[in-house]
Amino acid sequence: MVFDIISAVPELLESPFSHSILKRAVKNNLITINIIDIRQYGIGPHKQIDDYQYGGGAGMVLMAEPLKNCIEDLLASHKYDEIIFMTPDGDTFNQQQANQLSLSDRLMIILGHYKGIDQRIRDKYITKEISIGDYVLSGGELPAAVIVDSISRLIPGVLNDATSALTDSHQDNLLAPPVYTRPSVIDDMEVPEVLLSGNDKRIEEWRYQQSLLKTKMKRPDLYDKNKES
Ligand code: ADE
Repeated sequence: MVFDIISAVPELLESPFSHSILKRAVKNNLITINIIDIRQYGIGPHKQIDDYQYGGGAGMVLMAEPLKNCIEDLLASHKYDEIIFMTPDGDTFNQQQANQLSLSDRLMIILGHYKGIDQRIRDKYITKEISIGDYVLSGGELPAAVIVDSISRLIPGVLNDATSALTDSHQDNLLAPPVYTRPSVIDDMEVPEVLLSGNDKRIEEWRYQQSLLKTKMKRPDLYDKNKES
């Protein structure tokens, strides 16, 4: 899958994709992440990309023209499943959306900064607006890193253990069960006996029951959804 990410602060995106699982996914050509600096499309000798908002008010707005030229350039050579704008007033991201987006071939992700982007760009090009939660960050870079990570780990081959993504929290609206590793006893706290039993069926049932219990306690809203499905 290809992610084309348009950013005014591309440096912010260097680290999240340069380590661990995503780094390996890029190296193995399972995902490609292109980061496009909107400043390349800036206007005039100073490569201006933002301006004051009409009607007054604090905060700069990313100008329509640089974004339009950048988006049109990309559209001239590629087809996109979605053109996404990261914004705190978008639909709240969740595992179901990650699952659905992981079936895409190519996504364009546009990141706002300052006060946001000119509304006309949203009206004309954006097919999906995504928020990662009800709080405001300084720009879309961190939110983009969040969604690219959660989408990428669902692409076959990105995780070593093919079943691992399926047992994540939020798949099936259940939180993941507790996990333990060596040693089997620390400060008098023991690993649950069933996990040492070697009995796969009992272990699976225990994990499922723990998931149900944890979800019921911590996220009754998800628990109800799980019961409905
Ligand atoms: N940009 C700023 N805050 C954001 C949020 N919560 N989600 C997505 N994009 C954002």
